[in-house]
Amino acid sequence: MAKQISTNVTWHDGEISREHRFEILRQKGVTVWFTGLSGSGKSTVAVALEKALFAMGKLSYRLDGDNVRLGINKNLGFSDEDRTENIRRIGEVAKLFGDAGTISLSSFISPYKADRDQVRALHEAANLQFVEVFVDCTLSVAEERDPKGLYKKARAGEIKNFTGIDDPYEAPENPEIHLHTDVMSLEEEVAIIIDYLIDSETIQTEYMTRASDRSAATA
Ligand code: ADX
Repeated sequence: MAKQISTNVTWHDGEISREHRFEILRQKGVTVWFTGLSGSGKSTVAVALEKALFAMGKLSYRLDGDNVRLGINKNLGFSDEDRTENIRRIGEVAKLFGDAGTISLSSFISPYKADRDQVRALHEAANLQFVEVFVDCTLSVAEERDPKGLYKKARAGEIKNFTGIDDPYEAPENPEIHLHTDVMSLEEEVAIIIDYLIDSETIQTEYMTRASDRSAATA
C-alpha cells in the first residue's frame, strides 16, 4: 500500500453531497473494472458498453490502460512495482469519478489479484460500488487476435515481461461478472453488464428493461 508522505493535510468537505450529484445525473457512480489478458477484449467491451449506456442517457467514462499510460501514468513501465502503482493511481481516479456520479469503465490488464483487491477495498471504504468484470479468453485466442502485434514481438523476445508470455496473470476468483469473449457475442456481453447495473439499481429502470424483456418486446 502507498504510504502517506505529506503531513498536516486534512480532508475538506463541500456542501454538495454525492447524493446531490447522483440525483441530478439520475444514476449512481460506480466503477466497472475490466481485467484480463492483452487482447482479451476489455477495451472492445468498454467501448460498446459506453455506447449502450449513452443511448440510455447514462454518463460513463472510459479509463483505458493504453490511454492512461500516455498521460497521468506516462512515467510508469511494466515492472511489478510500476504495474502496482499504475493500478493504485487508476483505482483512486476511478473512485473520484464514481464519487462524481460517473460510471467509470476501467480497462487494465491489472494482472495482480492483490492490486485489484486494493482497489475494491478503496471503493468499499468510500461506500462506492465496484464491479469486477473478468474478461476471460484463452491465451491462444488472445495471441491469435494479437490486435497490436505485441504477442508476436513478445514471442520474438522484443518485449520483455509481457503478460501471459513471461509475466503472470492472476485470474479473479470471485468476480461479479465473468465474460468468455471467445464464445460470447459482444451484444450478449454488454447486455449482461447492463442487466447487472439495472439489478443492482445503479441505473434507474424507469425507461429501461432487462435484456430478456428488451428482446421479447422487439420479437
Ligand atoms: S497493467 O498490467 O499495468 O494493468 P495496462 O492495462 O496498463 O497494464 O497496459 C497494458 C497495455 O500496454 C497492453 O494492452 C499493451 O498494449 C501494452 N503493453 C506494452 N508492454 C506490455 C507488457 N510488457 N505487458 C503487458 N502489456 C504491455
